[in-house]
Amino acid sequence: MVSSFESIVQSRRSVRKYDENSDFNHDDVAHALELTTLSPNSSNMQMWEFHRVISPEKRSKLAEYCMGQNAAKTANELVVFVATTHNWKERAKRNAETVRQAFEGRDDAAAKRALKYYEKLIPLVYNNDKFGLRGLFRKAYSEWLGRNKPMVREVSKSDVRVCLHKSVSLAAMTFMYAMRDKGYDTCPMEGFDSKRVKALLGLRDSDQITMIVSCGVRTEEGVYGERHRVQQETVIKSH
Ligand SMILES: Cc1cc2nc3c(=O)[nH]c(=O)nc-3n(C[C@H](O)[C@H](O)[C@H](O)COP(=O)(O)O)c2cc1C
Repeated sequence: MVSSFESIVQSRRSVRKYDENSDFNHDDVAHALELTTLSPNSSNMQMWEFHRVISPEKRSKLAEYCMGQNAAKTANELVVFVATTHNWKERAKRNAETVRQAFEGRDDAAAKRALKYYEKLIPLVYNNDKFGLRGLFRKAYSEWLGRNKPMVREVSKSDVRVCLHKSVSLAAMTFMYAMRDKGYDTCPMEGFDSKRVKALLGLRDSDQITMIVSCGVRTEEGVYGERHRVQQETVIKSH
């Protein structure tokens, strides 16, 4: 028996031309995004925003900023997946509060460790200056500490940036599968003018766009040929 999850994965394709006359319910996108917020994310900091572009005027501007790609031009809606950094203090505080409530006044080692994580470690890594100098010091320190014991090495400002994009990418994947489950198609895009898109949506300077996902119902010619993947043995390794 083929599981429904398998059929969702097998039938998802990046679609470059949607049927603009098909039924498209924007409420389905709203629900898919609700599911998206349940995606796993680094330290449950939820440093993301999902910007829906629905109005025809904004969609057409956004398609232009997606370099006029077909996948953007014919979409019924586009969702811009954004990694945020401005809110790390508030999120760390919120998580510390949740931990405090969960441990209900306990001050044993496990409770202290969990609180230390959000009150000391997270601020240590997320607190970055414009030029990333703090991050370079952290990196050097972690290399030094890691000489004789296991140590997390990805602590520079650009490492944090990668970390945020990982979580937002997982959210985008949840969204694309949720949309497929509802009978829609999507295309993830990284070919866009981020500066213009940020201005169009009024995003902050510090925001980073992970990808833009267009949505609609596929046309036959919107799927560019057979799916090609390299041989599984070249990418799946057992140790
Ligand atoms: C991060 C990312 C960026 C992508 N950017 C684009 C893009 O800008 N334009 C486009 O047409 N497809 C884009 N794609 C879609 C890929 O080309 C597509 O996933 C790949 O060819 C495999 O095809 P499939 O998704 O149909 O299995 C992107 C995919 C990913 C994951």
